[in-house]
Amino acid sequence: MMNEKIKILVVDDEKVVRDGCQRVLGGKGYDVITAINGKEALELLSNTPVDVILLDLKMPVMSGEEMLEKAISLYPDIPIIIITGHGTIDKAVECMKMGAYDFITKPFQIDEFLITIKRAVEKRVLEQKSKAYEEEKKRNLYDLNLEKSRLRTIINCMANGVMVTNRNLEVVLHNPALMRLLEISGEIKNPVSIHEIINNEDLISTLKQIQSGALDKQESISQEIKVGKNILRAISAPAFGPDNGVVGTVTVLEDITAFKRLDEMKSDFVNMVAHELRSPLVSIKQQLTVILEGLAGPLQEKQKEFLEKGSNKIDTLLELINDLLDIAKIEAGHAVQHHVKVDLEKIIKDTVELMIPRAKKQGIEVQYLCSNLAPIQADPKGIEEILNNLITNAINYSPEGGKVTINAKGMGEYVEITVKDTGVGISEEELPKIFDKFYRVKHPKTRQVMGTGLGLSIVKGIVEAHHGTIDVESVPDKGTTFRILLPLIGSDE
Ligand SMILES: Nc1ncnc2c1ncn2[C@@H]1O[C@H](COP(=O)(O)OP(=O)(O)OP(=O)(O)O)[C@@H](O)[C@H]1O
Ligand SMILES: [Mg+2]
Repeated sequence: MMNEKIKILVVDDEKVVRDGCQRVLGGKGYDVITAINGKEALELLSNTPVDVILLDLKMPVMSGEEMLEKAISLYPDIPIIIITGHGTIDKAVECMKMGAYDFITKPFQIDEFLITIKRAVEKRVLEQKSKAYEEEKKRNLYDLNLEKSRLRTIINCMANGVMVTNRNLEVVLHNPALMRLLEISGEIKNPVSIHEIINNEDLISTLKQIQSGALDKQESISQEIKVGKNILRAISAPAFGPDNGVVGTVTVLEDITAFKRLDEMKSDFVNMVAHELRSPLVSIKQQLTVILEGLAGPLQEKQKEFLEKGSNKIDTLLELINDLLDIAKIEAGHAVQHHVKVDLEKIIKDTVELMIPRAKKQGIEVQYLCSNLAPIQADPKGIEEILNNLITNAINYSPEGGKVTINAKGMGEYVEITVKDTGVGISEEELPKIFDKFYRVKHPKTRQVMGTGLGLSIVKGIVEAHHGTIDVESVPDKGTTFRILLPLIGSDE
């Protein structure tokens, strides 16, 4: 109605009044419709919505009062202005008592007439606005309650625990799964201090950190916590208010005890199988070496050739077993066995020297350059393993004529080691996957290279156990550079 023309119904038996109203009100932009008596007016009203009614009292067929009574009961929201002669003001007052909005006397004073109409229109518009507003409010409230009840049901049915805290770190919302995971029986108050629900200081300090505004929208912190015999993964994130300030935290807890047990069992199993396989293999290898050295009698060329092939296969198998044992160690959190002073330059020199014959065989030049190196606190076996894997890869994945450069330099509290090659490179899509266990890139030029895809995941595990970082840059057909940063002092010291 707000954007449409205001429609006024004039009910009068005198044509001159109807025409007059039509002229004056039409000139002011109102849409005027007319009826000559109450009956016709009611018929009109039944199919045409109007905003204001101007109603004459003295009319044939149906009296103004009768029409007024019917209109008020049928259309209580439409303001009705009574048109009355000078002698019938008393009647007009009666009509106002019945519910008419106002009255005007004939003959009309144009200004007064227009003001009365304007007031009635304003009342009508205001009432319509407030009605629309009321309806919207009701609808919003209904929607809000519906959303709330849906959310409640979802949260209550979830297998994961949900815990919501307010600004004071009091729990204001939780679900049955949370009670089960935290082993709480019985009802809890709402709100209740977080300390009454959970006594894990790591999680509480995370929530305090989030509450102080440490995280942005979309960010969350994931951590493992122990509650009784169970291990839970807790993912916590801030809840923001309409002014974008942190108003509390939301934590979702998942029981990962079974996964953890399975993982441990898998590592134990791998460990056991690898150990059991290694001893007989080492013994077979020793016996083959004895035969190959001719200590069990002279060998013919063909016999020697087959025995050497067998012995090489045993070496490959032993390497695989060692890799599996390394992975199991890393996963059990025992990647760093010792933390001692390590002369990095010496380890690099020794490793490279051991590799040179093999590199030469493949037509690859290996160089190293060390500058500004201080001793680091690390596990020497681990550092050796890192270099071994990276340099072996650099040699294996480079075509003949390639060059491998190892660079190590001190950088403040860190030492940076880079292993650079001029090999086949790794495409952008493959790069994020090469540190995954057993992942190998399928490349036509490196198909003949034997490997299990464990090397880089071992390297990453050892680097991280030293609180270091590893990253890689590569351009296909140009070469690859692995870059490691290790802290000079192991943080366990
Ligand atoms: N320097 C490199 N240049 C090109 N590709 C590489 C390089 N280093 C690693 N890759 C790719 O990453 C994959 C994973 O390397 P990773 O060392 O983990 O396993 P692997 O060499 O295949 O086997 P192994 O476990 O015996 O080391 C390789 O198969 C290879 O495709
Ligand atoms: Mg490798």
